[in-house]
Amino acid sequence: MKQLSTRSRLFTESRIREMTILSNKYSAINLSQGFPEFDPPAELKKALEAQAMTAHHQYVPNWGIDDLRSAIAEKQSKSFGREIIPDEEVLVTVGSTEGMISTMMSVLDPGDKVIIFSPYYNSYALNAAIVGAEPIFVSLKGRDFKFDETELEDAFKQGAKALILCNPSNPCGKVYTRTELEVIARLAKQYDAYVFTDEVYEHIIYEGSRHISLASLPGMFERTVTCTSLSKTYSVTGWRLGYVTAPFEILEQIRKFHDVFTVCAPTPLQYAAVNALRFGDDYYAELQRVYTAKKERFTKALDALDIAHNEPQGTYFVLTDISKYGYKSDLEFAKLLVKDYGIAGVPGFCFFAENENRYIRFHFAKNDDTLDEVARRFERLENDRIHGHIPSEQKG
Ligand SMILES: Cc1ncc(COP(=O)(O)O)c(C=O)c1O
Repeated sequence: MKQLSTRSRLFTESRIREMTILSNKYSAINLSQGFPEFDPPAELKKALEAQAMTAHHQYVPNWGIDDLRSAIAEKQSKSFGREIIPDEEVLVTVGSTEGMISTMMSVLDPGDKVIIFSPYYNSYALNAAIVGAEPIFVSLKGRDFKFDETELEDAFKQGAKALILCNPSNPCGKVYTRTELEVIARLAKQYDAYVFTDEVYEHIIYEGSRHISLASLPGMFERTVTCTSLSKTYSVTGWRLGYVTAPFEILEQIRKFHDVFTVCAPTPLQYAAVNALRFGDDYYAELQRVYTAKKERFTKALDALDIAHNEPQGTYFVLTDISKYGYKSDLEFAKLLVKDYGIAGVPGFCFFAENENRYIRFHFAKNDDTLDEVARRFERLENDRIHGHIPSEQKG
């Protein structure tokens, strides 16, 4: 048999999926792949149920149904502080994931350079590999994961055609301040680069931080492609509905790739989703309240055991520092956690361009009793550490 494509050998299955498989094998609590354990709003479930009895079961225009694009345009107009034209500047995608790869396919050529802040969400590097683009990683440093302006400018100077901005950031929970966004905006304009933003956690934000869409900054809508989705905001990661907002000249190219990849996003789900996009401020305030309580429950349990961690400003992820357990490999420690303690997390190294082995990422979008059970399992781990009972590191 002839070899499969060279492209298919550029990357392996994601570690997150691998940890999920391991988690299932050992019946562990899965805090690796980030999705809510709880249901979406009842209104969405009812809307979906109602769709079964309508005539909405066939293909629709590839950029999405009118009602949904209008609802998205209304929402994004508020967020960007400008009027978004539903027929020209909005595309309904199969999750933000498809929006991002279609965007990168449309804007980047093989050999083009793209700036990615590290730590980063894996799929950006995989997309870059598929497109043939070369990532330039810029480190986010210190407790607050800040970038150095000079290092960022150096990356632009290398001729980057685009920058990917995950805001709020998975895995480090960073929410970019207006000042930081202004630096990015200034450099993007100065070096004539595009910015692709991933804003899927835009509504999972904690007190003291505020999510600002880069496209809302003066002169930035023109060069920004905003990718986001319903997945996290409405707890429907399995619906696979996302949307891209961008100026028409860019969006019409993205539409072509979206058409080739998907034809269109699932029709009944598009209809069922329309009302959610028009939820009032109270919905988002309640979402914030729920996640704040979960974050506090989870991080308090870590604090009680002196397990060091970052303080996320947004998202439902925490990076725990596992240095005190004495493992050299975070992967081996993550495997131990699944097998012996029934907790699945993601070894941090797969989010870092730098050589980093200190972290395990956990998500806390879980029911309270699950989080309490995780706390008990961490307690057992900590007791074993105190009594010198943690199995020594094994390779492989
Ligand atoms: C940063 C980030 N972007 C995108 C996605 C995927 O979003 P979607 O379900 O809209 O494809 C995830 C999922 O975990 C994510 O963490």
